[in-house]
Amino acid sequence: MASKRHLQSLFNRICRESRIIRSFGALSEKTMPSSSQHLINLEYECSAHNYHPVPIVFSQAKGSSIWDPEGNKYLDFLSAYSAVNQGHCHPKIVKALLEQAERLTLSSRAFYNDRFPIFAEHLTSMFGYEMVLPMNTGAEGVETALKLARKWGYEKKKIPKDEAIIVSCCGCFHGRTLAVISMSCDNEATRGFGPLLPGHLKVDFGDEVGLEKIFKEKGDRIAGFLFEPIQGEAGVIIPPDGYLKAVRDLCSKYNILMVADEIQTGLARTGRMLACDWEEVRPDVVILGKALGGGVVPVSAVLADKDVMLCIRPGEHGSTFGGNPLASAVAAASLEVIRDERLAERSAKMGEEFRHQLHKVQQQFPNVIKEVRGKGLFNAVELNTKNLFPVSAYDICIKLKERGILAKPTHDTIVRLTPPLCMSLEELQEGSKALHDVLQIDLPEMQKSKPKTVPPTTSDVCDRCGRNSYDSS
Ligand SMILES: Cc1ncc(COP(=O)(O)O)c(C=O)c1O
Repeated sequence: MASKRHLQSLFNRICRESRIIRSFGALSEKTMPSSSQHLINLEYECSAHNYHPVPIVFSQAKGSSIWDPEGNKYLDFLSAYSAVNQGHCHPKIVKALLEQAERLTLSSRAFYNDRFPIFAEHLTSMFGYEMVLPMNTGAEGVETALKLARKWGYEKKKIPKDEAIIVSCCGCFHGRTLAVISMSCDNEATRGFGPLLPGHLKVDFGDEVGLEKIFKEKGDRIAGFLFEPIQGEAGVIIPPDGYLKAVRDLCSKYNILMVADEIQTGLARTGRMLACDWEEVRPDVVILGKALGGGVVPVSAVLADKDVMLCIRPGEHGSTFGGNPLASAVAAASLEVIRDERLAERSAKMGEEFRHQLHKVQQQFPNVIKEVRGKGLFNAVELNTKNLFPVSAYDICIKLKERGILAKPTHDTIVRLTPPLCMSLEELQEGSKALHDVLQIDLPEMQKSKPKTVPPTTSDVCDRCGRNSYDSS
């Protein structure tokens, strides 16, 4: 009997202790600062592998600066793909967020709220459009614009039922939803996700002659031409001068909606409020996103006049979170910061300076840097694949990170440099100096040590248009 009691108490003690150990373990996991490597491993274990991040963990940020959990400081030359134009954790935007979060965060559009109408008035008057349709992510904004263009095509242009066409550009990037990838030239984004949506035609970006040919042949069924005024993900590709004006004229001539995806190029990124402003062109539909939420919450918006916007009626399109009061308050503050801090002018001026610095680096490494290009603080350095081999733009970004500069490659050969628009001249200089040092010191080392097994070009034939869209040498 005694030994049974003894066994029972021993068992209870073990259970108690193992509970304590378990809860202590949980407590220590929660309270101990986690190391970067631990967090990277954890994400790899528990999250889908749909990204290939540069291995740095953001733990804190202010303006252009980032700190990792170990307290190391970096300069941000990506700005979350231009979603942080105003700088990280801008005090006015964070204040708007906190004040609104304490009062009201969500009504849904089943009811009115006291923030969205104010924001809608603010946004439409700032950009000179009659109406806005609010959404959340950029891809949702693009989906909305596509649906709007189709609806307008059937109602106003009298395109026969289910025959509406959207024309988009080779090399475009408009997001990740099914309708949006149905226009993509990136095989990685499309393969294995078929069947893609019909009703899309492709044209070369910057090719006004090709565009007119398509408009002439199929114009009676084309509802809209969707394009980025500067292609971001394709590598900051700037169209020839006069292209935006030509697009405007052709869209007017053939009664086709000019739909500008300004999700990345808009809101001061290129040195103007919209990149279309560079040619003083007014699209029929403008899509905004990213920096509209000030890097704090996702906010996207489609702008158009009543003639187009009112083709969508109650119940035909929407989003639970679109136009929510929290996002509206944050977006209104984000716009005020862009206006009050004259970020468009700042971007234009600093961009010139930055390209000047980058051109100097190019002069020192003419065989490695093929081109420096950009507008405002929307810039890219295109590297020469052959002279870089076997090193990739990703490897260059890893070395930049080791030197405190955070940038992200696009394709194998392009390093995109799009810092927050508040970045100082000295900080920009740190970025170009780091690029210089990587090319001078790290590149020869990497070329010696990296196995030379990868073929020198990784260009691929596009499933959609059959061309080598990113052929680069
Ligand atoms: C031009 C453009 N359109 C749309 C999107 C999609 O935005 P989101 O990632 O918020 O869906 C992006 C994102 O990079 C973009 O650059």
